[in-house]
Parts: sequence; structure tokens; C-alpha cells
Amino acid sequence: MDIDALRAQTPGCTGRIHLNNAGAALLAQPTLDAMTAQLRREAEIGGYEAADQARDAIAATYDAIAELVSGRREEIALFDNATHAWNAAFYSVTLRPGDQILTGRAEYGSNVLAYWQAARRAGAEVVVVPNDEHGQLDVAALERLAGERTRLIGVSHVPPGAAWSSPPPGSGGSPAAAAPCTCSMPPSRSASSRSTWTRSAATC
Ligand SMILES: Cc1ncc(COP(=O)(O)O)c(C=O)c1O
Repeated sequence: MDIDALRAQTPGCTGRIHLNNAGAALLAQPTLDAMTAQLRREAEIGGYEAADQARDAIAATYDAIAELVSGRREEIALFDNATHAWNAAFYSVTLRPGDQILTGRAEYGSNVLAYWQAARRAGAEVVVVPNDEHGQLDVAALERLAGERTRLIGVSHVPPGAAWSSPPPGSGGSPAAAAPCTCSMPPSRSASSRSTWTRSAATC
């Protein structure tokens, strides 16, 4: 990665050290140009017409993201923000009475609200997996807790406010592979790639 080139194409880097990148990073010039040009086109010819004109560029975005995550373009869905993307995946999981959702102590707040809401409606249960001695998700405890009733394991890969990452679903030692559904958030994103939150693994 060419740090100087990346800084050079990020106007906000001039005269500022900006460390608040977890939720929204500084925009890079190419992103700014693409977004403002599209808005201008929408103002001139209408939103649907502008979308039509951008069809090839939009298709290329799906291809590029699919390549980045070693997936297929039809597995990629773009959303306007992480919460919306995550909710779309989570609420597609049908919960039945007695089902369990396993999650970690550092799970992202809006994800937990969705767990509680959906669990209450379905008569399911939210079970919080304890942390290990290092203060991160205890994978052994997760393995013990995961069972017949586990319908979903939902963990943020790198939760905000935690200096660690949980094992991604399906990785060595992670029992997440055994659950019918797993939802995990990728580590971080920037405002210039807000929609790449859709890399969230949601497999059922
Ligand atoms: C793990 C996690 N989930 C969700 C969000 C919320 O993102 P958004 O504001 O795009 O919904 C964040 C924000 O940083 C996050 O760290």
C-alpha cells in the first residue's frame, strides 16, 4: 500500500491528523468526484436517468467488491449504512420459539436491539457468550453454548470500543461454522466505502 499516494488523494489529510475512521473516514478525492458528479447528473437529468447512465460503473462496483472478498457479484448487496445492511441480513433469519441467538459481550448496540426485538417476538432467547481471560470472546465457551437450539451466532468481528477481533465465522476453532446462520461484521470501513459493510458475512 502506497501511504503517500493515499494521503495525496485524500484532501482532508492536508493539515489534519484524523484518527476517527471507524465510523466514517475522510473522503478520498476520486470518491468525492464520483459522488458529486452523480449528484449533479441527478439534478440535471433526474435520479433514475442518472442511475441508468451509471449502470456500467455500478456493475463494476459489484464486480470489484466480489473480487475483494473472493465472492460472486450476486452475493453482494450494497446498502446505505451498516445498520441497515446488517438488519437486512439478520431479519431474513426466521426465528422459532425456543431458538437461541448467541452473541458476545462487545456486540454492537443496534445489533443487540435487533436480537432482543426479534427474540421477544418469536419467543427465542438471546444468550451472551462470556469473555475469556484476555477480555475477548471466549471461543471455548461459545463452542460449549452452541447447540441444537442455536439458530444464529452474531458477533461483530471488531466491535467498536474493543481492541480485539473475534474469530470470523467458519475460521479454525470457531464453532460458528456449526450454526445454521452466522452474521459477522468486517473490521472497519471508511465513509468512502460505506457500502462495503455489505461484506458482512451472512450465511444461512
Ligand atoms: C460493528 C458496527 N456495527 C454498526 C455500526 C454502525 O454503522 P452505521 O452508522 O453505518 O449504521 C458501526 C459503526 O462504527 C460498527 O462499528
